Amino acid sequence: MLSALLLAAGRSGRMRDLVTSIPLTRGVVDRFVAGDDLDAALGTVRRLSEGGLRVTLDHLGEDTREPAQALVTRDAYLRMFAAFAEHGFAGGADASVKLSALGQALPGELALDHAREICAAAGRVGMTVTLDMEDHTTVDSTLETLGKLRSDFPWVGVAVQAMLRRSEGDLRELVDEGSRVRLVKGAYAEPSSVAFQGRGEVDRAYVRALRLLMRGDGYPMVGSHDPRIIDIALALAAERSPASYEFQMLYGIRAAEQRRLAQGHQMRVYVPYGADWYGYFMRRLAERPANLVFFLRSFVSR
Ligand code: FDA
Repeated sequence: MLSALLLAAGRSGRMRDLVTSIPLTRGVVDRFVAGDDLDAALGTVRRLSEGGLRVTLDHLGEDTREPAQALVTRDAYLRMFAAFAEHGFAGGADASVKLSALGQALPGELALDHAREICAAAGRVGMTVTLDMEDHTTVDSTLETLGKLRSDFPWVGVAVQAMLRRSEGDLRELVDEGSRVRLVKGAYAEPSSVAFQGRGEVDRAYVRALRLLMRGDGYPMVGSHDPRIIDIALALAAERSPASYEFQMLYGIRAAEQRRLAQGHQMRVYVPYGADWYGYFMRRLAERPANLVFFLRSFVSR
């Protein structure tokens, strides 16, 4: 219930204005977001890399309705790749991209065109790109774009949300050789007509999907902080070479576990940065309502 309210607040312009106008919010946001700009993010990337962790960098932003804003997002990624190359971080690094930030909701093929340019620039410096998955209304369009991108850039990956009823079917099309798939539980409020409801149902769907991925020929990316899911993934991966899968977690969540897994497994941290942190932050609060207590306490303790 509280999660649903937080996710609804995450889509409200009024709540955005309110939450982002409170200076104290920033301290809590910093736990999950690497900073407002690329320089701050690069500092985090350096620190994580020194600890043996790989990264996927996300320039924050979503639901773009203006072509000019989509262009700003594309350019932010192009700057990111140039900076990664300049600092020697590019090899093995990944960028996470939300197609809605590139104009997916706008008419025509703007998002695809921008995504192509992003993939071409990433490929030139030796980086990969993974498409985030947003709410269920965008899945068809995201998978269609993925198919088009993969004909030129076969290493483009995609996030698949275990909570969606359709995902097992989608995954059967995504387990071919080399196919990079990040399996996540799903962070959006979805109706029961399209999504499993409740922790138990979603977790069981995740395990079914994980089995499919681990038995396939693709490159599974286990995107979860859940200790039980991680144990199951480790057991399923026992037959695979350590180079043929990886774990992924979000910046600021279970950092000690990230470092532990990095001893012996590939571990990648999803690092978001940028000024447009509101939607991302509200999803993190919704995942763990205890974060809301922490957030509210920061006001009281001042
Ligand atoms: P679960 O929610 O059960 O959490 C397990 C444990 O992890 C908790 O008990 C707690 O200890 C810790 N934890 C989890 N979330 C926390 C939080 N916010 N704050 C503090 N602790 C927390 N979703 C999506 O819909 N589209 C996408 O593209 C992506 N992309 C993505 C990339 C990567 C690398 C990750 C790890 C996750 C995503 N997600 C996502 C988010 C995902 O769908 C899901 O909401 C979160 O990962 C939380 O689910 P868990 O599997 O961690 O389990």
